[in-house]
Amino acid sequence: MDHFLLRDGVMHAEDVPLPAIADAVGTPVYVYSTATIERHVRVFRDALAAIDDPWIAFAVKANPNAAVLATLARLGLGADVVSGGELLRAIRAGIPAAKIVFSGVGKTAEEMAAALRHGIGQFNVESEPEAEMLSAVATEQGLVAPIAFRINPDVDAGTHAKISTGKSDNKFGVAYDRALDAYARARELPGLKVQGVAVHIGSQLTDLGPLDAAFARIGSLIAALRGQGHAILTADLGGGLGVPYNPALPVPPSPAEYGAMVASATSGWGVRLMFEPGRVIVGNAGALVTRVIRVKEGANDPFVIVDAAMNDLMRPALYDAWHEIKAVAPNGDRLTANVVGPVCESGDTFAMRRPMDSVRAGDLVAFMTAGAYAATMASTYNSRPLTAEVMVNGNFWSVVRERQPIEALIAADILPPWLEKG
Ligand code: LLP
Repeated sequence: MDHFLLRDGVMHAEDVPLPAIADAVGTPVYVYSTATIERHVRVFRDALAAIDDPWIAFAVKANPNAAVLATLARLGLGADVVSGGELLRAIRAGIPAAKIVFSGVGKTAEEMAAALRHGIGQFNVESEPEAEMLSAVATEQGLVAPIAFRINPDVDAGTHAKISTGKSDNKFGVAYDRALDAYARARELPGLKVQGVAVHIGSQLTDLGPLDAAFARIGSLIAALRGQGHAILTADLGGGLGVPYNPALPVPPSPAEYGAMVASATSGWGVRLMFEPGRVIVGNAGALVTRVIRVKEGANDPFVIVDAAMNDLMRPALYDAWHEIKAVAPNGDRLTANVVGPVCESGDTFAMRRPMDSVRAGDLVAFMTAGAYAATMASTYNSRPLTAEVMVNGNFWSVVRERQPIEALIAADILPPWLEKG
């Protein structure tokens, strides 16, 4: 459920009419709803009510905007970070280092050192060479790094291939069959303190079966590790729960169903459970508001050309992702159209043959469920500056990221001396 609703015929974010934001800030613009974020945190927490003191670390990659992170920090969430940049954003937003977990296959020595200096709660280590580097970096600083190994359980998550991470041929984690050796090696490394296990098999999961299968393997591994004398205190179950994008498709499992499955799959583990939700917290809390530039006749259906493009919202081009497209002020008529952006690639297509509200040049259109993996994946392709972002809270709203000035984009380039005007 979200807080983007029609009121007097006009879509509002909470109590703010979207045209007011579009007129003031311009388009395209991402709009986030505080109430929706708060609601999803509450629903996720309630779903885990049977679990003692869950450590919920928001996957910053889903939406790293400082206002989003500060909202989540106030609600007491931790952070799952995958780069030195995300680490800094989480710390600056007020998320305590002790609640931060650092994931990712390619952590550099510099990133490790920064995370150690801040005193983060856990490193999810994805290979033995990484464990060795982390131990060396920690030892050099006179510190000990708390770690879990991320285990690749070789389970097919049943989601889009580009966001599946738990099959043996994916780059992620330590192979299940190598896990005992990896833990034995870590025990010998002076800069590491082994404290847990971690798993994450993919994103936008619409079936709990693969998660259940992965957790069963992790449960057996915990028992085997304890048999070898390792103290396993945490189990990080990753993120991955899907959200509804297309109302015509079956609704993904609810957080409550997920929570019940987790409680039963992990019963008796005797660990502190950790979670890394991203999309389920912020996905429905954002909309990308764009203006129709013009409508152009097509061979079959018309092309609705909007002022947002693949550089602003990459998911359709990258994963054939489906986002609901709504007129901000629907006139009651419908049409079937191809919705495209101005970028010079056929891939700059948001939807083909889509039945939708009828729109004309100048109308506002909203791409729904654009709070996760949306603004954060934007680029400046076609020299299109990064879009503005706005956060709404009741009847207040505020720009939380200014539209990148085109001058700033151009000024970042540097001419070599031989091309400077003399
Ligand atoms: N933990 C780890 C280690 C991850 O790699 C991810 C997502 C998450 C947690 C959060 O997963 P979530 O709860 O959001 O499903 N750009 C793609 C999604 C990439 C997901 C990457 N990892 C998209 O737009 O669908």
